[in-house]
Amino acid sequence: MLRVVVVDSPEHAGRLAGDAVAAVVGRVQRPVLGLATGSSPWPVYDELARRVDDSSLSLAQTRAFLLDEYLGLLSDDPRSYRAEIEREVVGRTDLPSTAVRGLDGAASDVEAECCAYERSIRDAGGIDLQLLGVGSDGHIGFNEPGSPLDSRTRPMELAPRTRQDNARFFDGDVEQVPAHCLTQGIATILEAGELLLLAFGGSKAEAIRQAVEGPVCERWPVTALQRHPHVTVLVDRAAGSLLERADSTA
Ligand code: GLP
Repeated sequence: MLRVVVVDSPEHAGRLAGDAVAAVVGRVQRPVLGLATGSSPWPVYDELARRVDDSSLSLAQTRAFLLDEYLGLLSDDPRSYRAEIEREVVGRTDLPSTAVRGLDGAASDVEAECCAYERSIRDAGGIDLQLLGVGSDGHIGFNEPGSPLDSRTRPMELAPRTRQDNARFFDGDVEQVPAHCLTQGIATILEAGELLLLAFGGSKAEAIRQAVEGPVCERWPVTALQRHPHVTVLVDRAAGSLLERADSTA
């Protein structure tokens, strides 16, 4: 089931997502989080940092997997997703760096890395709660339009629009944005126990309309979420502006 919640602000979404993380951490003995990058999850990470800081939450027993990674960036490159998670989450909470597994964007054998990644997720017992953003073209992780709905973790070529959208993290220079990446597949993402998608701003409105009201199709990978039994979509008014229905405003 897919539930849509329209929030007043990204901070508000961060608080609701913080509640979802706290619920998993309270319920599961060795919780496993799926962490997303891009700017949409930042309010969630602010909220987690706040809760760990005031001791209302601890991520010390939590393990985490990253959704995707650029190919060709070393893990200590500040623009790598691994470095972003180290900065945004590990550096500001008690989540141990050693408990975080990301895809190795510098792997020499990328196919082997992807297989090993799938195995690591399985060995951890699967992901309990996966955070997600969405690209303006409807990609999730780096599953670009046309990605098979049964895809697993694999290398991908980035769509020109995604490189353009992400150039803001590379001094505004699209040429610096890697052309290839590794990403969890759509089927991999759908195996998480619970999915939480965050989207803010009018540039995401069409992707959100497709996600919630469009037919499930490869053109809009985010529509695959409709096949998952437990999905919450947190949007601000702008991102939800093309929706005919919203289940609740919070
Ligand atoms: C990147 C990431 C996605 C993310 C998307 C949206 O392409 N690989 O996981 O959802 O950007 O980013 P933002 O949240 O910054 O709009």
